[in-house]
Amino acid sequence: MFDKSIYTERRKKLKESISEGVALFLGNVDSPMNYPANAYKFRQDSSFLYFFGLDIPGLAAVIDFDTGEEILFGDDATIDDIVWTGPQPTLKENAEKVGIQKTQPFKKLDEKIQLALSKNNKVHYLPPYRAENKILLSTLLNIPIDNLNNQSSTELIKGVVDLRSIKGAEEIKELETAMETAFLMHTTAMKMAKPGTYEKDIAGVIEGIALSADSMTSFPIILTKYGETLHNHDHSNRLEKGDLLLVDAGCESPLHYATDHSRTTPVGGKFTQKQKEIYSIVLDSQNTAIKAIKPGAKNLDIHIKACEIIASGLKDLGLMKGDIKTAVNEGAHALFMPHGLGHMLGLDAHDMEDLGEKFVGYDDKVKRPNIFGTGNLRLGRELKDGFVLTVEPGIYFIPQLIEKWENENKFKDFINYEKVKSYIGFGGIRIEDDILVTSDGGYKVLGKPIPKTIEDIEKISR
Ligand code: GLY
Ligand code: MN
Repeated sequence: MFDKSIYTERRKKLKESISEGVALFLGNVDSPMNYPANAYKFRQDSSFLYFFGLDIPGLAAVIDFDTGEEILFGDDATIDDIVWTGPQPTLKENAEKVGIQKTQPFKKLDEKIQLALSKNNKVHYLPPYRAENKILLSTLLNIPIDNLNNQSSTELIKGVVDLRSIKGAEEIKELETAMETAFLMHTTAMKMAKPGTYEKDIAGVIEGIALSADSMTSFPIILTKYGETLHNHDHSNRLEKGDLLLVDAGCESPLHYATDHSRTTPVGGKFTQKQKEIYSIVLDSQNTAIKAIKPGAKNLDIHIKACEIIASGLKDLGLMKGDIKTAVNEGAHALFMPHGLGHMLGLDAHDMEDLGEKFVGYDDKVKRPNIFGTGNLRLGRELKDGFVLTVEPGIYFIPQLIEKWENENKFKDFINYEKVKSYIGFGGIRIEDDILVTSDGGYKVLGKPIPKTIEDIEKISR
């Protein structure tokens, strides 16, 4: 974990931003896979990690904004626990590691919350996403489970988002550590993309690379020759010459900072002419978008620019037609790129998505567009020095979407359906990198560059 001064300083800043009441932070608990003692790998809540650093189940914390008091709630391991898990630091020892003086047994949490409620103090909490924490919050606060999200604290959400959005030097260092593993995962997948290999062979190896780096994947690996399905987690197919292998995968640093990269590799190491043409458009779109990143730039504008490059490239190939700016403005390009250009990255691959994209990706100045495609953009607002975000344009040929739109005569002034149908079976291409917004130079691509030009990809995958 980081030095305790990092966590103390983060909590101090949070206290400065919230006017009154108490904040209740629930850490995560172990989650059973198929019977109680057989749990999934433990993953701590990211906001809990951010403010309290402790990567262990069964903790909660309260910050009192009126008195400044901070209390860590949890239980010391019993001898029965120790027999199975080995010796554990005490709650007090753990609290000291993150600069918290006061500890109490977990069962005292209820007393603390009831006291605050009886004094009409506001109890701020973040929107819960795990069933166990929903039940606990509902019981502690006497709020029906269905109302928990609505009654979560906008003031606390905004305070947390403001802090977590701007990455400190220690966080960038962690991200850079994880990027080394990400480089190895992606270059290994490229080298393994050979005819006769199964997707699962590669997925298993690259997940192993993440595990071997004292890490884990930052989301379930997307590794597929059917890249037109955006989040395709099926790894059962055999790769054949001529296929495109889309790999969208990331890992976490030991302190849980996430990477998220996508690369698309021709199986057997040689793009066809048709693949080269589509790949070049996506790469041009990604490079242009990255270069547009700087503090003050609106990510929604960068998304639109990236989509215009895609639409214009597709027009050159005869797949789209008409005025490109109008086509993108009306959403016609979304037949080929139905997702957004990118999202925040940090302690989560989709950073802080549990807190609500309207707070993380948008604000009073930039509202989320209500249109298929651009409406899926997770981050639209003005970028700031210290943000980390992904840039991940793509082009996909989704048979069901093509068929639906053609049957509806949708955007027939912008889309040449006859030509588009000749691309069914092409799959999909996505190229994704992780970018730090900086005040000097505008942007920095994090990590050692993973091959992405046609020449470099063909060289490594041959
Ligand atoms: N890497 C998966 C996503 O960004 O949704
Ligand atoms: Mn992503």
